[in-house]
Amino acid sequence: MKPPGRPLHFEYRTDADTNGGGMAADVRRGLQSDPKRLPSKYFYDARGSDLFEQICAQPEYYLTRVELGILRRHGPDLARAIGERAMLVEYGSGSGVKTRLLLEALIDPVAYVPVEISASALKQSVEQLAARFDQVQMLPLCADFNTRVALPTPRREPRSVLIFFPGSTLGNFEQTEALQLLRVMHDEMGAQGAALIGIDLKKDPAVLEAAYNDAAGVTAAFTLNLLGRLNRELGADFDLSQFVHRARYNAQAGRIETHIVSRVDQQVRLQQARIEFATCEKMLVEYSCKYSLPEFDAMASRAGLQVTRTWTDDDQRFALLLLRRGAGPASTA
Ligand code: AVJ
Repeated sequence: MKPPGRPLHFEYRTDADTNGGGMAADVRRGLQSDPKRLPSKYFYDARGSDLFEQICAQPEYYLTRVELGILRRHGPDLARAIGERAMLVEYGSGSGVKTRLLLEALIDPVAYVPVEISASALKQSVEQLAARFDQVQMLPLCADFNTRVALPTPRREPRSVLIFFPGSTLGNFEQTEALQLLRVMHDEMGAQGAALIGIDLKKDPAVLEAAYNDAAGVTAAFTLNLLGRLNRELGADFDLSQFVHRARYNAQAGRIETHIVSRVDQQVRLQQARIEFATCEKMLVEYSCKYSLPEFDAMASRAGLQVTRTWTDDDQRFALLLLRRGAGPASTA
């Protein structure tokens, strides 16, 4: 037990490369390319993270609810498949609800290592979890999970590493990047390790489009907050009322594509640059890829991984997959 009243203290390791100045350069590059695009990872400032939590509560956005349902229902089975004394490494830290469910289910987990670019999100998540799981060492890592990081060594020796990547966040990456990320997982999990990945499954496009165009307009506010963030943090002067959110399912590519569309001809100032937008010009801000189970199997095997277990809901809307190193080609990422 934690002695009462003792202040919680964690050491935060910061990866300066991924945080310092990265956003300004990425945004400049994205807005000066043709067609324009912005990386979806910049959605998540404090306001964006808050709006994302609100999206998860919208009736149309089934993903989070369904994934939580799978975790609740299959927790014990998941824990048996993973094995005892795992070091849980999570890519992104989210609100901690899924993590809490997983830590509750796991058998004697040794440590929790959230890898998260937002220091405030990281702090919030570990402080809440530390209060609940006093046998689990909290080892937060402030870094971009796309780059290979050296995992910390916990006090108690783990039997294996479990990489947790829920929420269909993998779907936000393009094929080659997703593959790269799976290769990073392959290397980080070690010989005894595994990855537990949440993916959104292909389904009726109307259901998919509704999930990204909720009637209350929360997703639209979430998308446009990206421009608000550029105003606040980079001194840009986007007029949010002159842009609209648009999310469509591209069946060919198997993904929701979210764009920000300019209502009018306009000019936006971004630091020293002036960026022109034509009427109806669209800027790509997010992909949310949807998979079939065989498609995902094929992608995993290209990263040297094998899907060893699959848990889904009754309607096959979402899946949690357990991946281990397979017989496929070794990673050369
Ligand atoms: C949880 C990050 C995967 O793509 O479904 C939700 C983000 N964007 N609504 C997703 C998101 C618009 C979400 N991810």
